Amino acid sequence: MNISINENYKHIKETYLFSEIASRVRKYTEQKPDARLIRLGIGDVTLPLPGVVVDAMNRAVSEMGVKETFRGYPPESGYPFLKEAVVRHYKDNRADIDVGEVFISDGAKSDIGNLVDILGNNEIIIPDPVYPVYVDSNLMNGNRITLITGNKENGFLAMPDQIASAGARVIYLCSPNNPTGAAYDHGQLRTWVEYALSTGSLIIYDSAYEAFVTDDIPHTIYEIEGADRCAIEVCSFSKFAGFTGTRCGWTVVPRKLLSSDGTSLNKMWLRRQSTKFNGVSYPVQRGAEAALSAEGIRQCMANIDYYRENASMLGDTLSGKGIYYTGGKNSPYIWLQCPMNMNSWDFFDMLLYDANIVGTPGEGFGKAGEGFFRITAFGTHESTAEACGRLKELL
Ligand code: MLT
Repeated sequence: MNISINENYKHIKETYLFSEIASRVRKYTEQKPDARLIRLGIGDVTLPLPGVVVDAMNRAVSEMGVKETFRGYPPESGYPFLKEAVVRHYKDNRADIDVGEVFISDGAKSDIGNLVDILGNNEIIIPDPVYPVYVDSNLMNGNRITLITGNKENGFLAMPDQIASAGARVIYLCSPNNPTGAAYDHGQLRTWVEYALSTGSLIIYDSAYEAFVTDDIPHTIYEIEGADRCAIEVCSFSKFAGFTGTRCGWTVVPRKLLSSDGTSLNKMWLRRQSTKFNGVSYPVQRGAEAALSAEGIRQCMANIDYYRENASMLGDTLSGKGIYYTGGKNSPYIWLQCPMNMNSWDFFDMLLYDANIVGTPGEGFGKAGEGFFRITAFGTHESTAEACGRLKELL
């Protein structure tokens, strides 16, 4: 062929972090087919969908098989019944948003990756370590990225005073954080919102793990006064309702968000989505609506409590070994310092080869993640208990 390509792809790693891990694990299991692996790597849930969700999806599937209730293309930004459920969910978290500001999608990852489509060539601020999609999708667009470091000293919570000079930027924040599990409190998030408002910056706020919040800290950036003038929030049913395989999420783009020339970001996102995305299937949206009902929230939170117990088992094991870690409290992720000053890929190999445990090397989340390692609490109780036993022996 005689075509050119997006040269920016030459600046990203050849494989996405979790694909790289899957391929290393595949290689290992080819050599050791009998290995009893415990997968605490990618943050994938293990409990089945809550019953209330399954019932709602079954009913919706049946409706699709009947002439009178069959539905074709869904509305591009989601069915009103689900958008209204999302608005009520925000009200419960003391945040006021409008139905027209909610966009239903097939998950937070897609929206985070796609938001770059509506933004120009801004300087991008990304805390390091962080979920790799922020960096990769901006590199794919040729954007200039400045990393600000999260470390032991700042509790893995980067703050605006780490940004060298004032000016409008696009800032990615994830709280509770993937991978470190650290979470901003109200004061810290207020500092970010004030910074964004005073510099004309935009915050892209990833709240995919908000359901794990236990302390009195924000579930959404819109709990902070003024955030509707400077922040887009992306959230997901994946971790809250077990939708990793079902796929549904949402993004809030407040109407007050205007670019430097007064263009509405809400209108641009609607234009982008209606052109490049055809919506989420009706049964999935009914399932998501059910997850946000009072009974749905009760069932989802019971599952989250189950994962929390795993987190405390893992945390106790690490504490017992004197290993430093963060997370596990407001988050399903435990972020530990690799023992014996090992680098994170060496530690990955050691856990895989010597304990048959799969985790995620901190370096995969950025340079500042080197020397650290992420394990998830999304396993079953049995596999987590077994992993704790193996860790106690190995470390
Ligand atoms: C992770 O393990 O970081 C997440 O599961 C990835 C994702 O949500 O896309």
